[in-house]
Amino acid sequence: MNMADRLAWGILGAGGIAGAFAKGVQSSKSGTLVAVGSRSKEKAEKFGTEHKIPNRHGSYEALLADPAVKAVYIATPHPQHAEWAIKAARAGKHLLIEKPVALNYAQAIAIFEAAKLNDVFVMEAFMYRCHPQMKKVVELIKEKAIGEVRLIQATFSFHAGFSADSRLFSNELGGGGILDVGCYATSFSRLVAGAAQGKDYADPLEVRGAGFVGTTGVDEWAAATLKFAGNIIAQVATGVSLNQDNSARVYGSEGRIIVKDPWIPARDGGTVSIELHRNGKPVEEIKIETNVGLYGLEADTVAANLEKREAREMSWGDTLGNMKTLDLWRQSIGQQYEQEKADKFQPVPPRKIAAVAGNNMKYGEIQGVGKKISRLVFGADFAGGWSREFHVLADDFFERGGNAFDNSHWYGKADQHLGQWIRSRGVRTQTVVLGKGAHTPYCTPQYLEQQIKESAEKYDGYIDVYAMHRDNPDVPVGEFIDVLNRCKKAGLIKAFGVGNWSLDRLRAANAYAAEKGVEGVKVLSNNFSLARMVNPVWPGCVSASEPEYRAYLKENQIALMPWSSQARGFFVDGRSAPEKKDDGELVNSWYSDDNFKRLERAQSLAKKRGVTAVNIALAYVLAQPFPTFPLVGPRALVEMRTTMPGLDVVLTPDEMKWLNLEV
Ligand SMILES: NC(=O)c1ccc[n+]([C@@H]2O[C@H](COP(=O)([O-])OP(=O)(O)OC[C@H]3O[C@@H](n4cnc5c(N)ncnc54)[C@H](OP(=O)(O)O)[C@@H]3O)[C@@H](O)[C@H]2O)c1
Repeated sequence: MNMADRLAWGILGAGGIAGAFAKGVQSSKSGTLVAVGSRSKEKAEKFGTEHKIPNRHGSYEALLADPAVKAVYIATPHPQHAEWAIKAARAGKHLLIEKPVALNYAQAIAIFEAAKLNDVFVMEAFMYRCHPQMKKVVELIKEKAIGEVRLIQATFSFHAGFSADSRLFSNELGGGGILDVGCYATSFSRLVAGAAQGKDYADPLEVRGAGFVGTTGVDEWAAATLKFAGNIIAQVATGVSLNQDNSARVYGSEGRIIVKDPWIPARDGGTVSIELHRNGKPVEEIKIETNVGLYGLEADTVAANLEKREAREMSWGDTLGNMKTLDLWRQSIGQQYEQEKADKFQPVPPRKIAAVAGNNMKYGEIQGVGKKISRLVFGADFAGGWSREFHVLADDFFERGGNAFDNSHWYGKADQHLGQWIRSRGVRTQTVVLGKGAHTPYCTPQYLEQQIKESAEKYDGYIDVYAMHRDNPDVPVGEFIDVLNRCKKAGLIKAFGVGNWSLDRLRAANAYAAEKGVEGVKVLSNNFSLARMVNPVWPGCVSASEPEYRAYLKENQIALMPWSSQARGFFVDGRSAPEKKDDGELVNSWYSDDNFKRLERAQSLAKKRGVTAVNIALAYVLAQPFPTFPLVGPRALVEMRTTMPGLDVVLTPDEMKWLNLEV
């Protein structure tokens, strides 16, 4: 290959593994090393001289600004991966990122979103996946050389000798065995479990770990059991304070495969071998030879797949699944880095978040709130679990101009986590919290008052808009209205309403308020979407779709903050069709002849407008003749991104009638 056609690499971070990769590129068939960037100019010079690299930069920024560099190899400690990977993607550089691709799954999703937006290649640097030995293992599994896979064992650890200064034991630098080398063992298990099911990889259904977290708060040794579909079990073990045999074994119904040297096979090229034990037969030794070193193979894998933007050897989905597995493993042993705790987890790259100029968010108002409210309300229910993904999505939403968040006392720790996000970003005065409470079986005036107080504490003492999560027809409406008025007077809530209430009860509540001269219901959080809910998604759920309900909302200009405003994915391309019955929840709640007609119409209108049917469904909710603030629940940055165009779709009255099946 002539020099001009070779992939021009720049190395970011001149540390230990960077040296190995530098040699690797020089032995590769496709790469050339053009630049190195270090935080220190002297170090860059020294590294450059040692590896004969022409461009030596005294900062990472300078490396990323170097036009000669086409692909960047990120070789910093793990906590810095995401920041520099995202900055490199924005600079238009293709990316090979050392493993683990980031400190956690949440940062990983931010990396892939940046790669997608900037159209660059990304691969996590699992060089062992690029060696033909792994292709052979996959081939043996797929051809059922050992029958059905039942158990996988993979170990990778080393005894570094404790040193509080070393990155391996440093909490700040993401030390510990699970992230450093345990990631190989999980990635191997997922590869093999996937191959056994005819797929590129599989994600575990369960991860159960045990481990020792030392004085610096990092896991010094740990093990885990992973359970996959098909009753495939994996045992993985790792550490930075013990030596193991560092092998990988796969046990099947008719034999076993032993990979003695799975992780760093033939570093500089040469021969490695796999043992294949078929039950009752002599051991077969399968030899695999390479004439390019391991890191050279890795660089060649990047070059060969550059146009596709990902390599099958370690695809984006594979990396995300592995990161999730590592999160679960660490969670199960109680290990968490200080910087990723809910009150400290910062946006990556580090920045003060603010709505970006030119965003397309629209705003409305609700009397009493005193702030503009984004027409899209981000559902924070999933923040009740692990909050980091929520932080990444909430940052993105906020930068897109969103400031309203839906939450509930019912969602476990979600109030606490949203409160932590708001505090850590310093945005309380700009955000609007839609809080909810009094969910069945706690739907009584006493619980309502108590839960309002408990939730308000999480948000600097007040909630912007409060809605009851459910109704309890055994309680006279007036008792609830009295509590809501009292809490408003006390400054705990700024505006209030109800959720999942029937029209009769809502009317009765407002009649009571009018009679008593107190404030009535200004906000409703029932279901509402282009698709009509056929059966309640959860017990006690009520929609506001019927013409009579809509007429009441219009007449009284009550603000609707509808949940499942996009019918829980009903309008997503390819998700629903009369014959498609795999998603029971979708079938139960949204499948009806009329809804399929609406879907068809939304799809055809979407085609005309150059948007998606989901965007049309959102535009329909936004275009109602009463104020609407639809709740949306993106679980991934891509879902957030593809939701936004719905805000710009303006539907004509005729189109509204047509979507409503009125013509
Ligand atoms: N695939 C493999 O075979 C393999 C093997 C070992 C490690 N790794 C991975 O490679 C990454 C780096 O590991 P390593 O062993 O090469 O580490 P290392 O020797 O400590 O080098 C890391 C380099 O990162 C840069 N850096 C940036 N911010 C830093 C900070 N706050 N503290 C310390 N260094 C910082 C430094 O380069 P400058 O001073 O030049 O800026 C440093 O030399 C890790 O993510 C690790 O998991 C992979």
